[in-house]
Amino acid sequence: MRWQRKDLLGIRELSAEEIIFLLDTADAFKEVGTREIKKVPALRGKTLVNFFVEPSTRTRTSFEIAAIRLSADVINISASSSSLIKGETLKDTAKILEAYHADLIVLRHSSSGAPQFLAERLKSSVINAGDGAHEHPTQALLDLYTIRAHKGTVAGLHVAIIGDILFSRVARSNIFGLLKLGARVTLVGPSTLVPREFEKLGVTVTHKLDEVLETADVVNLLRIQHERQRKEYFPGIGEYVRLFGLTKERGKRLKPDCLIMHPGPINRGVEIDSELADGTQSVILEQVTNGLAVRMAVLYLCGGIAT
Ligand code: CP
Repeated sequence: MRWQRKDLLGIRELSAEEIIFLLDTADAFKEVGTREIKKVPALRGKTLVNFFVEPSTRTRTSFEIAAIRLSADVINISASSSSLIKGETLKDTAKILEAYHADLIVLRHSSSGAPQFLAERLKSSVINAGDGAHEHPTQALLDLYTIRAHKGTVAGLHVAIIGDILFSRVARSNIFGLLKLGARVTLVGPSTLVPREFEKLGVTVTHKLDEVLETADVVNLLRIQHERQRKEYFPGIGEYVRLFGLTKERGKRLKPDCLIMHPGPINRGVEIDSELADGTQSVILEQVTNGLAVRMAVLYLCGGIAT
């Protein structure tokens, strides 16, 4: 297929064919990371602005490394180092970046829809690096990539996403991607954070973690997004661990080939036991490594469309 999108704003709008094409392109870039000289000239002469208005370790760093490996020039801007704190609007800031002929803008923002707002107004490619509780498309792509690398396919797998679904952009993007590629998805968590309305998306909802442990091919643990919650959604951390934490005891009930995933950052001892996070079934660090290849693919494909 021929890639035709200048922006990557979410997984919801992608077809299964586009997702597969992105994953296949990432496969080609994964090999670059194993070379002695980890660099290709694909985006030579292009400028990428990493514009992070919310904190990030993995996503910001991996977009920067991905861009460097593609030979693009990279500029990093954070909220605290930009004139946003002096009251400049997001649109004005982005127009300034475009005036410097930025070809790609990678945006993380606390407001859902901020990347779309810019994409509709700028000629530059806009890549969503996580917007509010809306979407985190490259996280879902790297999760799909990691699952496919281990299982050969995503179709037909049972994937349990566990934790704070209501406030999670990772959950939303994963749900869209997994369903499009033919997985069966179960959401697990407290009823306050996993309301039944999610079933309209085509997933199963349960409030009992024990119901999925023995059948899941993949468990994807999410942290509680305290920064987006304006009230208490469960009685306390102890209660949460008792009901929804992937403890050592629960870990023993997983299938031996069940993948344990987490997008990070991890709250060890809360959503997952520390030993399980570092154990043989965990692919958490592989997710991080695969994020590079996936983000190289996204930058290469969208950067090739931007005018
Ligand atoms: N998974 C993820 O988005 O991590 P960061 O917040 O560190 O980028």
